[in-house]
Amino acid sequence: MDNEISFFQLYNGTKIPSIGLGTWQADDGVVGEAIAAAIKVGYRHIDCAQFYGNQKEIGSTLQKLFQQGVVKREELWITSKLWCTDQAPEDVPEAMDRTLRDLQLDYVDLYLIHWPVRMKKGSVGFKVENIVQSDIPSTWKAMEALYDSGKARAIGVSNFSSKKLGELLEVARVLPAVNQIECHPAWRQESLKAFCKSKGVHVSGYSPLGSPAWLDGDILKHPNITMVAEKLGKTPAQVVLRWGLQVGHSVLPKSSNLARIKENFDILEWSIPEDLLPKFSEIPQARLLKVHFLTHESNGASISEEEFWDGDI
Ligand code: A2P
Repeated sequence: MDNEISFFQLYNGTKIPSIGLGTWQADDGVVGEAIAAAIKVGYRHIDCAQFYGNQKEIGSTLQKLFQQGVVKREELWITSKLWCTDQAPEDVPEAMDRTLRDLQLDYVDLYLIHWPVRMKKGSVGFKVENIVQSDIPSTWKAMEALYDSGKARAIGVSNFSSKKLGELLEVARVLPAVNQIECHPAWRQESLKAFCKSKGVHVSGYSPLGSPAWLDGDILKHPNITMVAEKLGKTPAQVVLRWGLQVGHSVLPKSSNLARIKENFDILEWSIPEDLLPKFSEIPQARLLKVHFLTHESNGASISEEEFWDGDI
């Protein structure tokens, strides 16, 4: 493999680039530069969401890059996500159109249901009182219509447990192509990944570095990771991302820093030897992203974190 992007093929034949630039918490004023830098380095996959609040800047940056001839639309893989307040089936096409307008695109490559949680249309913030009963089958029918229309070349879900994904698979006409979930050496999601694999659903890993600044993930300092990094002459971030590719999921590292954007992409022309892979499996497991607003008593929640994730570990 050279330092050109590699792909995972989805069940419908589309090919998702194995590394995507995450844009969550990449603020307006910063995200455009990060995207331009990433695409110049060779990234061909940008992971977006309406909820991240930065799609307009991403859209104008993409337009500039197309006009300058830096990259063509068809060379890129753009993912976006349906926010929880737009899950009513009649709101889904409007949400898609808003995202396409913001991104200045005719289609996205992948459109995901961001969370298996529905919130009141127009509501703001993570509050238990904003949550309404979800009806994923009806939301999914509206997602299927977007797929049929060509506005989304593939459709999928994010933050779905094995149970919730299994229930969706029972009723889906167009199968979900991707489940985007938290995935890194300290939260390997082995059983959910095995389930996804058995159903032909590709896994994309978010927070693949353990979100060091925000979630206090310290996997980049874990002695097993630093040992492998030193042995291979790579950085901890590079070996953590490379591990993700080798265990079969695409990775979506976020960075707004040019040096780190480059560093995170330089994981394609080398590999971690098989005998070092068990070192990653020794790392204790802990989910970093907690849905406290849904699951914490102090917020009036009625379900526990474990119940929300249907016991997936
Ligand atoms: P920054 O944007 O300043 O580079 P994740 O993708 O797991 O959510 O992690 C994103 C966080 O990790 C961001 O805070 C980002 O900061 C930081 N980060 C990105 N790349 C690296 C790297 N190669 N080494 C250390 N930290 C990184």
